[in-house]
Amino acid sequence: MKPTLGCCYYPEHWPESIWQDDADRMRDLGLSVVRIGEFAWSRLEPEPGKLEWAWLDRAFEVLGSAGLQIVLSTPTATPPRWMLERYADMLAVDVHGHPRKFGSRRHYCFSHTGYLQESVRIAELVAERYGESDYLYAWQTDNEYGCHDTVVSYSDSARLAFRYWLRDKYQSVAELNEVWGNVFWSMEYDDFEQIDLPNLTVTEPNPAHVLDFRRFCSDQVVVYNAAQCAAIRAHSSRPLIHNYMGRIIDFDHFRLGDDLEIASWDSYPLGFLEDRVGADEEWKQRFYRQGDPDFQAFHHDLYRAVGKGRWWIMEQQPGPVNWAPHNPAPLPGMVRLWTWEAIAHQAETVCYFRWRQAPFAQEQMHAGLLRPDSHESPVCAEVHKVADELDAIGEIEPGTARVAIVFDYESCWAWETQPQGEDFDYLSLALDLYGGLRRLGQSVDILSPDTDSFSGYELVLIPGLFTWSDALLNALQSAEGTVLVGPRSGSKTTGFSIPDVLPPAIPDLDCRVAFVESLRQGVSRELKQGGAVIKWLETVEGEFEIVEETVDGTPVLIRQNKIHYLSGWPDEQARKRILRSLCESVSLPILDLPEGVRVRETASHRFIFNHNAEAIDVDGETIAAADLRIQRIR
Ligand code: GAL
Repeated sequence: MKPTLGCCYYPEHWPESIWQDDADRMRDLGLSVVRIGEFAWSRLEPEPGKLEWAWLDRAFEVLGSAGLQIVLSTPTATPPRWMLERYADMLAVDVHGHPRKFGSRRHYCFSHTGYLQESVRIAELVAERYGESDYLYAWQTDNEYGCHDTVVSYSDSARLAFRYWLRDKYQSVAELNEVWGNVFWSMEYDDFEQIDLPNLTVTEPNPAHVLDFRRFCSDQVVVYNAAQCAAIRAHSSRPLIHNYMGRIIDFDHFRLGDDLEIASWDSYPLGFLEDRVGADEEWKQRFYRQGDPDFQAFHHDLYRAVGKGRWWIMEQQPGPVNWAPHNPAPLPGMVRLWTWEAIAHQAETVCYFRWRQAPFAQEQMHAGLLRPDSHESPVCAEVHKVADELDAIGEIEPGTARVAIVFDYESCWAWETQPQGEDFDYLSLALDLYGGLRRLGQSVDILSPDTDSFSGYELVLIPGLFTWSDALLNALQSAEGTVLVGPRSGSKTTGFSIPDVLPPAIPDLDCRVAFVESLRQGVSRELKQGGAVIKWLETVEGEFEIVEETVDGTPVLIRQNKIHYLSGWPDEQARKRILRSLCESVSLPILDLPEGVRVRETASHRFIFNHNAEAIDVDGETIAAADLRIQRIR
């Protein structure tokens, strides 16, 4: 399948007289997909029950007849003001107990049953009307679940629903008391009705209580999305997509993705570098106009897994955004590079956000492909170039990597609940290891924690896993390649206690974590082999081969047969050496890439990306700043 390009468009923001010209210009630029509708509820249903389809019918006709394939979104991320007259209590409530008011977007609580019904109603109405339109290519449900911290809500509706959820899970309150360990601090309950949400407690609430609440919050998003999906599917055979985000971990994307055909995400590399990549100042200075070289790639691989192979970029940054602490313009060439990078990671479609910069309201400082006066932004030349290059390249065959990392949302919630050291962040750990592998030229797949076989992979990493599922333990035990487990993996039961057999609790592995310590910033434990452990160090005991240890003899990497256990968080130097020797041990070809250069291989092509602001030599060939090379390998 040939990858396609598209954009996000808001016909309701512009006079109808310019729609035709917009559509023609999109097509002339090489775009073939247009996403519309995700915030248009107040125009679709200005009063309860009064539907105004005519304008959207005409927009469909204009865009569709220009040859654009339409992705229509349900408008549920922005309930109109009248909805609050109906359901004053539909707003989410923050951790301090304050309602999150009307006046921006995502002002709803996933647990509010009235709003759920309204969402299903509007999804059904749009699906009835457009579900089988020839111009409709796919659906987007809602917009960016979890954006603006909207998964966790401490509302009355959430409290009620949480009690049902707990009742269903534990059946008896005695069982809940037992699993949570409520004898501690006399926290025992007599009835599910006594259980509150875990906010506003005097000191930290029971971690088992918090983790169950986080699981519940995630389930509420999954249930909400599934209800929309069912409403749409009753009237439409087109694929369903959701646009996920970068570094948003508040719901289990694998579970939500099971209800959709395609995953997508919204990629804003410069905004992310400013406020989501945990890098030092020097790194941020170096890449401030290019973005972190691994952050986007990691999410591409993650969402390819969430979409079971099918994924898109639904929103691609085209110029300065408006929401980060600082908002530089991408280095010329980067928008093309980001687009190709997504395609190298097997994206089917890349849509730019947005067609034209809005002159009004919250995002008036956010660039589009067109300026507010409808002149092309300079980025259009890059988009045009990619469109031409895509015409020329022919088939790009998808491939499977030989290295994989297991990524688990529950582990994110668990270590947020009980970090033990304030720097222990699960996503950062996964990103550090992912980046380390990429610096050695590896293409990496991401696996869900329900994976039951590692077949095909020579090396699998399972860092920071909260608890083992039977499936994953099976995959581990039957793995033919090498597996790196830890740090912290398998260190809890599902009920958030320390397992009877001390971590990592792998049958047949004679290794137990006797105790752990977290290290403050600036403190490290040097390794004999060079580099150091930072943030986290475990003391392990058992009968094993010591591969790496601190200068005072604390094992940091141990091995027993094909399983390695990593008992600390290695710094960059140690990480590089450890990952290199693991790759070498299974004969993976290693590339010593210059800083800022990354490679991604599919079955047919090798893509080499220079994320640097200066030209760089790779294998005797010069790649210009913010440029790439594409090599046919098969
Ligand atoms: C995304 C969102 C868009 C727009 C964009 C601005 O998070 O889906 O609606 O707000 O950010 O960068």
